[in-house]
Amino acid sequence: MPDHSTRPLTKNNAENTGRTVRVFFAIWPDNAAREQMDGLAKQLRLASLCNGREIKAENIHLTLAFVGEIEPSRVEALRMVADGTRDAGARAFDFTVEEVRYWKHNHIVYAAPINAPQELLDLVNALSERLAAAGFSLEQRAYAPHITLMRNAFCQCAPELLEPVAWRVREWRLIKSEQTSGGSVYTPIDRWSLV
Ligand code: 2AM
Repeated sequence: MPDHSTRPLTKNNAENTGRTVRVFFAIWPDNAAREQMDGLAKQLRLASLCNGREIKAENIHLTLAFVGEIEPSRVEALRMVADGTRDAGARAFDFTVEEVRYWKHNHIVYAAPINAPQELLDLVNALSERLAAAGFSLEQRAYAPHITLMRNAFCQCAPELLEPVAWRVREWRLIKSEQTSGGSVYTPIDRWSLV
């Protein structure tokens, strides 16, 4: 699993001088799944199982590929990468969160499937290959699908998920990430449908 707290900047990243945008590809849950996952983090805190900073409901997502800081002019190249991935026939799939886990090393509580759907792995592989071919450098670590629910978390014991959370994934998005005094703001730049 990635530890973003200790990760070096990739070569897409330059000093953030205000001229770059921080972007990533991700999947957003549908309304019902978002509410369920938002409820999960709140329950953990209310039951005094975990203390931490919950991710705002509207920010709950599954990252496909983190691109990092790029010049705005390169967004068009990302669009072409995503168009190519879509045109190659990326397929829709059901995504089921079956576990809530806690990473002690980076204090993150996250939701995850037990086995990642093959269509998700195919989509991530196809995107990653095309990103690399277009000159974007990505993490070398193996992809581990996870949905961060809480940061700066301290848990008494491993949280347990009583009911799976599932939704049909029909699209993915390119997201702009901005750090503000009110926390992270994620704005969709574009979206692509799955077949
Ligand atoms: P995380 O929730 O585990 O931190 C936006 O930052 C999204 O991209 C988050 O889902 C984050 O995962 C993920 N991500 C992947 N690589 C990242 C990196 N190098 N820096 C920040 N976020 C990264």
